[in-house]
Amino acid sequence: MGVKIVVEVNGTAQSHEVEARTLLVQYLRDVVGLHGTNIGCDTSSCGACTVLLDGESVKSCTVLAAQADGRSVTTIEGLAEPDGTLHPVQSAFREHHALQCGYCTPGMVMAVVSLLKENPSPTESEVRLGLEGNLCRCTGYHNIVKAVLAVGATAGATAGATAGAGAAAEAGR
Ligand code: FES
Ligand code: FES
Repeated sequence: MGVKIVVEVNGTAQSHEVEARTLLVQYLRDVVGLHGTNIGCDTSSCGACTVLLDGESVKSCTVLAAQADGRSVTTIEGLAEPDGTLHPVQSAFREHHALQCGYCTPGMVMAVVSLLKENPSPTESEVRLGLEGNLCRCTGYHNIVKAVLAVGATAGATAGATAGAGAAAEAGR
């Protein structure tokens, strides 16, 4: 028997009946029709299927679609602005050549978005540790780490400038 679920996917409510055993990744790809989320291993090892569930990164091959009922999911298709402007992480991946075949990239980018939400200015070892659940067989990770550090450096500079402006405003009082 099917299970009725309502899931907010990239800001749009999706209402479907799915089999109880349907995985979130199968739901996103085969029911909703978003093919950006890849399946690499199906055994929770590779991270190619990473999406955000209520803002937290999850491997969508380890979650049942029914578990996403009433919750919100963001996939790679939901990251760019409606006018096509790329998310800063996507831009950094492009700028720093952080992909080759691209198979790991959607999951990698979603994992980076989640990592930077928790730690906006990570060190290199924090980036490597934070992404250890996402495998890439092409890049050797170097350019991926460079891209993440670049986004983190921009976030750090912005936070520093904001703090500096705040301190200056305080001092001027
Ligand atoms: S397909 Fe989900 S972790 Fe590999
Ligand atoms: S770019 Fe090919 S697996 Fe990562």
